[in-house]
Amino acid sequence: MTKPTFSSGRAEEFRANLLAWFDVYQRDLPWRRTCDPYAIWVSEIMLQQTRVAAVLEHYAIWMRRFPTIEALAAAPEEQVLAAWSGLGYYRRARFLHRGAKTVVADYAGQLPRTAAGLRELPGIGAYTSAAIASIAFGEAVAVVDGNVERVLLRQTGCCERGVGGSTAVRGALNGNAIQGLATQLIAHARPGDFNQAMMELGATVCLPKKPLCLQCPVAGSCRTRGEHPTAARQPGVVADANVALIQRKKNGKDEVFLEQRPSAASVMPGMWELPRLDGATLSQKPILNLRHAIMQTTFRVSVVEVRSASALPKAANRQWIALSDLSGLPLTGLGRKILLRLGLLARPEQNLQRE
Ligand code: ADE
Repeated sequence: MTKPTFSSGRAEEFRANLLAWFDVYQRDLPWRRTCDPYAIWVSEIMLQQTRVAAVLEHYAIWMRRFPTIEALAAAPEEQVLAAWSGLGYYRRARFLHRGAKTVVADYAGQLPRTAAGLRELPGIGAYTSAAIASIAFGEAVAVVDGNVERVLLRQTGCCERGVGGSTAVRGALNGNAIQGLATQLIAHARPGDFNQAMMELGATVCLPKKPLCLQCPVAGSCRTRGEHPTAARQPGVVADANVALIQRKKNGKDEVFLEQRPSAASVMPGMWELPRLDGATLSQKPILNLRHAIMQTTFRVSVVEVRSASALPKAANRQWIALSDLSGLPLTGLGRKILLRLGLLARPEQNLQRE
């Protein structure tokens, strides 16, 4: 197994060039304007598997609703899930909520200050603990996510990613070697900035398909200049789903008929969505067609207007909900998307990221 290192001179130059670039070109993101460990924790959990653009909208709303760890710990789960609605992977919201309760009850409201201590909290693994510990507390522990990995594979010229911790792949790097290299490179004077700069470089310049090498601050030390066969994406599964839109007006209020997922469901338990028309052959033209990805599956969803709730089989987990109450309800991402597209749910405030 290849075990690359940088000479100390090359490492020093890499750090200096990367940080100088980050100082000028970093994106202006709200979690970069705070030193509050709670706010940084929230941002890092939201950023797991989620694009920055999607996080921006939710982050501002979340921080308004739960400005402190105590506010989050005291909130009912329904409100926490409602604030997360649309971000997907709802386990993250539950972990944050549970983590906040633990920190308030057992740590006097203070987050642990080291990566090792942070990993004791639910939902925080190696990558997230390194990000929070370095950004909020200045611990020199290197973050390795997919973006950082790509930067390092290209820098070293060890263009493939080896499998597992010990399987030897000629010319490839395994996870341990990549982590070791990131640890060698990290800037001890500015570990949080270094980690964010590495992630930023991968996200904005060292792109998977068309890297922007002419804009790269560390192109001088790059062995490949952007060559790096990234693993081909597994083709996802495509499935069809039909859902019902049923509306009424009662006592002057517009209402929509929704269904709550079982509390024991493995995916999105307890969240609200439009009733499914499972197995139904549609005789009616859908009022909306859209695509929605949930994990590895892309759903082709047709929304059909149904005149009356009595047209559906009886089920105890369905209920009329006033449109004015929708924003406080934990909706699934798909439910939220449909209600937004149909203009039944108000769009969350725009441009909150500049607060
Ligand atoms: N991805 C996850 N956390 C990040 C951060 N703090 N900066 C840039 N990209 C990130």
